[in-house]
Amino acid sequence: MVSAQQDRGGPSAGEPGADVAGGASPGEVADLFYSLCGRRRDVRGQFTGEPLDDAVLRRILGAAHSAPSVGLSQPWDFVLVRDRGTREAFREHVAAERDTFARELSGEAAATFSKIKIEGILESTLSVVVTYDPDRGSPAVLGRHAIADAGLYSVCLAIQNLWLAATAEGLGVGWVSFYREPVLRELLSIPERVRPVAWLCLGPVTHLEPAPDLERHGWRTRLPLDAVVHAERYPGS
Ligand SMILES: Cc1cc2nc3c(=O)[nH]c(=O)nc-3n(C[C@H](O)[C@H](O)[C@H](O)COP(=O)(O)O)c2cc1C
Repeated sequence: MVSAQQDRGGPSAGEPGADVAGGASPGEVADLFYSLCGRRRDVRGQFTGEPLDDAVLRRILGAAHSAPSVGLSQPWDFVLVRDRGTREAFREHVAAERDTFARELSGEAAATFSKIKIEGILESTLSVVVTYDPDRGSPAVLGRHAIADAGLYSVCLAIQNLWLAATAEGLGVGWVSFYREPVLRELLSIPERVRPVAWLCLGPVTHLEPAPDLERHGWRTRLPLDAVVHAERYPGS
């Protein structure tokens, strides 16, 4: 029997791409995915602050929660921060940390950095704080015995899923890391053992820029792929 998916030219169950194609051919799915990766941006200045549909937010968080994790520990939590007062308090701290970083700079770097916006905390619709709980699934986290950081890697994969899902939904995400962990712990009552990994600004945007902000402002440029792909041995060894 020919399934509806096969009928539309998609792969049959069991073939690579069968479950994700949804009627598109594997090539079309791949094209869409690569284009999504290229379209994803870190957003600071383009948030509109418009409301975000609960169902959309749920889909995005579901994508994050479907990330791979070491030993299936799923060590992430997502704290949704909408409260204006909390966001203002965090933004004040971020502004102070921005000044701390700016004081380390001089000359051209200082001038370039002074023009770069590093967060959209108040302009975005809400913030999602992603945390890492090393006790989740412990004591025997399968695959983490030799590499403690594997738990953190898992949280970063959840963040990347969230980022790409938001991009697919036409939304923007901005990662803010100009903060001290104890300050954020205190602000959101995060226990000592849990690490805040990211403060993400999320919401509708006017548009996504075609190039990273840091590139547009002359801070750094993206490396060509061939500069980071090596055969057999790490370069220079
Ligand atoms: C771990 C991490 C922390 C980041 N922290 C900040 C930040 O505090 N402020 C900011 O404006 N961008 C931050 N970014 C965004 C990067 O600057 C951005 O990803 C990079 O310049 C490439 O741009 P793109 O994401 O638009 O491709 C962070 C990104 C990562 C992955």
